[in-house]
Amino acid sequence: MFENVTVVGAGMMGSGIASMAALAGKQVVLVDCSIEQTQRGKEKAAVCIRELQENGLASPDSGVMDRITCSENLEEAVKHADLVIEAIFENLQLKQEMFGKLDRLLPAQVPILSNTSGMRITDIAAKAVCHPERTMTAHFWLPAHLVPLVEIVLWEKTDREIAVAVRDELKNWDKQPVLVNRDLPGQLANRILQAIIREAANIVEIGLASAEDVDIAVKAGMGIRFPAWGPLEHVDAVGLDLCLSVQENVLPGLSSEANNPAMQRLVEQEKLGYKAKRGFYNWEEKDMDALVKTRNDFIIAARRQLKKI
Ligand SMILES: NC(=O)c1ccc[n+]([C@@H]2O[C@H](COP(=O)([O-])OP(=O)(O)OC[C@H]3O[C@@H](n4cnc5c(N)ncnc54)[C@H](O)[C@@H]3O)[C@@H](O)[C@H]2O)c1
Repeated sequence: MFENVTVVGAGMMGSGIASMAALAGKQVVLVDCSIEQTQRGKEKAAVCIRELQENGLASPDSGVMDRITCSENLEEAVKHADLVIEAIFENLQLKQEMFGKLDRLLPAQVPILSNTSGMRITDIAAKAVCHPERTMTAHFWLPAHLVPLVEIVLWEKTDREIAVAVRDELKNWDKQPVLVNRDLPGQLANRILQAIIREAANIVEIGLASAEDVDIAVKAGMGIRFPAWGPLEHVDAVGLDLCLSVQENVLPGLSSEANNPAMQRLVEQEKLGYKAKRGFYNWEEKDMDALVKTRNDFIIAARRQLKKI
């Protein structure tokens, strides 16, 4: 149904998304502000494709890179598109302008998806487009070529049939898309992740454990089960009565702060994480590249194992 895909924004996410579309056999146009940026995006897409192929998560396909073309001209780039995914900077005004342009350029039936991680699609699309029914969020997770989840968020005006068609399409891209029925902050998975982050920071704040031990507890405990064992499957397995009695003891003592004081303090001290070399960790001493490699290797191994089961 969707054969020609345009990805707007050839950065970290756009390049990964383009790689998945090309591997699914689509003709992909990758568009960015300059041809150099787009070409860099295509090179990143090639790295993603190689990683998937070398690890048996994608079939050898000598024509795959020929299916990705580069453009710096939005109008040209969407000329034949029957699906458009926006992955430009996380800036509301820029996204609204882009949705307005895409809405004017594209025939009314072409879905326009935003890969926004933190914004509501309502805020991006409501005032910007004349055909809101074809707009929705399609939130790919980093790294977009490895993480199977895509959250498709419908807002009040999204046509459910179009969202279902997009969901079914993304299944053919070897993704595991989910439909999120309302456009609330945090979509679906970020609501869960942010609750974990709030409590993880709170545990450090109250001196219950170090940042390192918090991360070990998550990775070596619940985290290692998660690819094959969701939290609600867990609840049903242990029994709701038991789980409820644990919750009665534990929930009242958890952080319920709307803001996160531990993280606020770090931000005030300009300890912004890896980019500032200081956050919860000292990144002069800890190796981010090695961590990313371990993460990717684990995701690959877990996905290969899950395919076998
Ligand atoms: N990085 C993540 O972890 C992550 C995860 C999920 C979703 N997202 C979301 O994906 C989107 C892109 O994030 P990213 O990390 O790939 O950013 P990025 O900075 O790596 O890439 C953004 C790209 O968009 C291009 N761009 C900006 N304005 C443009 C325009 N008007 N026309 C064409 N191209 C334009 C930039 O030149 C850049 O190459 C954001 O909305 C972000 O929130 C990011």
